[in-house]
Amino acid sequence: MGKKIFSGVQPTGNLHLGNYLGAIKNFVELNNDDNNDCIFCVVDLHAITINQDPKKLRNNIRETVATFIASGIDPKKSIIFNQSRVSAHSEAAWILSCVARMGWLNRMTQFKEKAGKDKEKASIGLYSYPVLMAADILLYDSTHVPVGDDQKQHLELCRDIAQRFNNDFKVEDFFNIPEPLIQKQFSRIMSLKDGQKKMSKSDLSDLSRINLTDDKDQIINKIKKAKTDPMPMPATIDELDKRAEAKNLIGIYSSLTNLTLEKSLKKFSGKNFSEFKENLSQVLVDKIIPISLEIKKLLSESNYLDQILLEGCKKADHIASKKIKKIHEIMGF
Ligand code: TYM
Repeated sequence: MGKKIFSGVQPTGNLHLGNYLGAIKNFVELNNDDNNDCIFCVVDLHAITINQDPKKLRNNIRETVATFIASGIDPKKSIIFNQSRVSAHSEAAWILSCVARMGWLNRMTQFKEKAGKDKEKASIGLYSYPVLMAADILLYDSTHVPVGDDQKQHLELCRDIAQRFNNDFKVEDFFNIPEPLIQKQFSRIMSLKDGQKKMSKSDLSDLSRINLTDDKDQIINKIKKAKTDPMPMPATIDELDKRAEAKNLIGIYSSLTNLTLEKSLKKFSGKNFSEFKENLSQVLVDKIIPISLEIKKLLSESNYLDQILLEGCKKADHIASKKIKKIHEIMGF
């Protein structure tokens, strides 16, 4: 049986290499397999858990769709839509927030990181954000959820919520318990400036990430300036594990070229970083520039992008509203 795939990406601008290698590249592979039913959601309701400028948000929603398509997702095969247009997401999130427990949410490390020191000032939405994520996934009876490593804990919470709902209301199998699809390697791309920190759109330094809209000179410059260590390139995985920056850069190279870490190491061991960086820049330019050009082209065709969303929303709404109707019956509404 084919898989029912669901995943989401926030339209917060600056989609980067981490989003691409950790998630979007897999979306494309799953989309290409005709056995799968794929839904890719632009999670605009998640984006507003922190302040957003409405004008920028509107553009960022289109840019996220453009990025999906430019990366190779076929809107004829997969449903692409934005979350806010399908009201079942907000509704299910409320109902599931009455199933989820405070203790479960208190464990979420992403909230702790994002809220920072002053938790009192964080929005309630930022705190309950993983419940909305569970609603997204469960409304479509999703079987598999492709994400980067940072979303693992949220998926575990989603599974707990689904199980608890099924138990509490004695509706065994009503919500499918979804499996995470997290790559074994390269599921956590780190900052180019600090091998201990995740590559992220919220990092103040643009030099910390490769954006999917960067041009050739920006990519070359960022790789040139990427942090390394003074030793020559490592030879073994053991050595690599002790050198965070080298590990990240070789991981990026391996993921882009579909080589194993071992094979990449063999190619570059003992060489200088400068030689490796030239090779890395080249594979990045070859991969990212066509995507970057296509995103820019698609952004000038906003009607086309809006049409894709409109059609995707109709299809998503058709599925989600049936599920929410059943949820109402179960709840006694
Ligand atoms: P978001 O928008 O932060 O990120 C989108 C996807 O990119 C992955 N990612 C990374 N992977 C590897 N290395 C990195 N440095 C890196 N940074 C980001 C994320 O893991 C994610 O897969 N909560 C989600 C969006 C969401 C969702 C969902 C996902 C909402 N509802 C339902 C799956 C299913 C988020 O904020 O992703």
